[in-house]
Amino acid sequence: MKSKIIINKNFTVGKIDDRLYGSFVEHIGRVVYNGIYDPEHETADDMGFRQDVLEAVKELDIPIVRYPGGNYLSAYNWEDGIGDKAQRPTKLDLAWRSIETNEVGIDEFQEWAKRAGTSVMMAVNMGTRGADEARECVEYCNSDTPTYWADKRRKNGFEKPFGIKTWCLGNEMGGLGQICRKTPDEYGRLAVDCAKVMKLVDPSIELILCGSSHRGMPRFGEWELTVLNYAYELVDYLSIHQYYGSDDNIADFFAKPCDMDDYIKSVLAMCDSIKAYKKSGKRIMLSFDEWNIFGKGLVAEPKAVEKAPHLFECEYTFADALVIGMMMMTLQNNCDRVKIACLAQLVNAIAPIMTENGGGLWRQTIFYPFKLMSKNGRGEAMKTAIYCDTYSTSKHSDIPYLASSVIHNDQKREIVIFAVNRSLDEDMELDATIEDFGEYRLVEHIRIYSDDLNATNSINDEKIHPEAVDPNRATVLKKHSWNMLRYKY
Ligand code: AHR
Repeated sequence: MKSKIIINKNFTVGKIDDRLYGSFVEHIGRVVYNGIYDPEHETADDMGFRQDVLEAVKELDIPIVRYPGGNYLSAYNWEDGIGDKAQRPTKLDLAWRSIETNEVGIDEFQEWAKRAGTSVMMAVNMGTRGADEARECVEYCNSDTPTYWADKRRKNGFEKPFGIKTWCLGNEMGGLGQICRKTPDEYGRLAVDCAKVMKLVDPSIELILCGSSHRGMPRFGEWELTVLNYAYELVDYLSIHQYYGSDDNIADFFAKPCDMDDYIKSVLAMCDSIKAYKKSGKRIMLSFDEWNIFGKGLVAEPKAVEKAPHLFECEYTFADALVIGMMMMTLQNNCDRVKIACLAQLVNAIAPIMTENGGGLWRQTIFYPFKLMSKNGRGEAMKTAIYCDTYSTSKHSDIPYLASSVIHNDQKREIVIFAVNRSLDEDMELDATIEDFGEYRLVEHIRIYSDDLNATNSINDEKIHPEAVDPNRATVLKKHSWNMLRYKY
């Protein structure tokens, strides 16, 4: 099969915000306890953080991490996780029916973020709580005033404010299982109240308004239009979430990133219709702050009420890695409006990094496309003309066999093509034409490939990993492979 891609220096989508490569740490299952934090572990640092996990996280080069939830957020009291650990309450977490010791709260997490070379995207509880706690949390984290909550932070050992810039106004507040779920009108009103007081405490913060939990929600559309109508002028981003199930029909599964693209464009149409309706000069951007695949073996209900249960742990296949790579292309290709995205989640629960309690760790199949696209996907995304064959299934039509995104980094003087060949049986020759950059040459071709779409990684065997391909040979994208082509000009 033959394919062609034309890139021209004059045609760009927009600058990629580094936060497109964000992730998510929720108090769910073993993400925090026995994930990022285990004071008994042989690699634990002075604060109890696993350094082996920190090192693996650093490999992913994640600029922002959403915290502390997720559904967990909607019954969370942030004050439980500050100050003297000996005084912190052990509570029943209602979202995941787990035991929460509060050994890790914002005091610790902001420090973990520094050690991981990332920043915190904080979320405030709009389920059981509201404006008062939200403004107090902003004061505790960001104020340098001589006032109660800022003083409390100083007493807890943090003289300087944490300086958290990005804040979520709740999580999936219309979600069917969300604690103290809201109607669009209830949430819209509450979001306005919270946004106002939070920005009065710190006018420099950016706010993210909850969108629907996913596109299949019964009130999808009505939710977006209503909540934006209330809060449009007070917020900076609308949140969007999507998980796709590992589909046994691979042709359909490989089409999910096209569905994701359509979802983004549908939500943007609603944002822009509210802009027009309000005659506003402001354009709302998107924060795709939960995206991933629900891989095989995922268990969402705890068997018993315990601390750090094995929840949401799933095994990712090679096919999942290809879809994750293509979903990242969709995010990159929409970077003019999607400014933040969080791979949900980071460790153990639906995660690229898995740990053994008290033992080692391993990188799941999805770790590698994420890492390579995060590290090499900084700069500006290019518009492209693509010529290739397409396929259709009973659910999807006109899916191009070539999935791609192109990033130009002018400081490095390089153009990177990320490409997946969706074909299940044919290799693909790729003819890349790069116009108006002068002389250029392919300096690196990295491929992720396996004959077995069901192959998985384990602690003893990382079967799925990147390999170098000779860049001096004609560019061939093997059947069902992920590729990175790095050109210098
Ligand atoms: O990431 C797991 C859960 O999925 C989150 O807590 C929730 O926001 C979403 O529905």
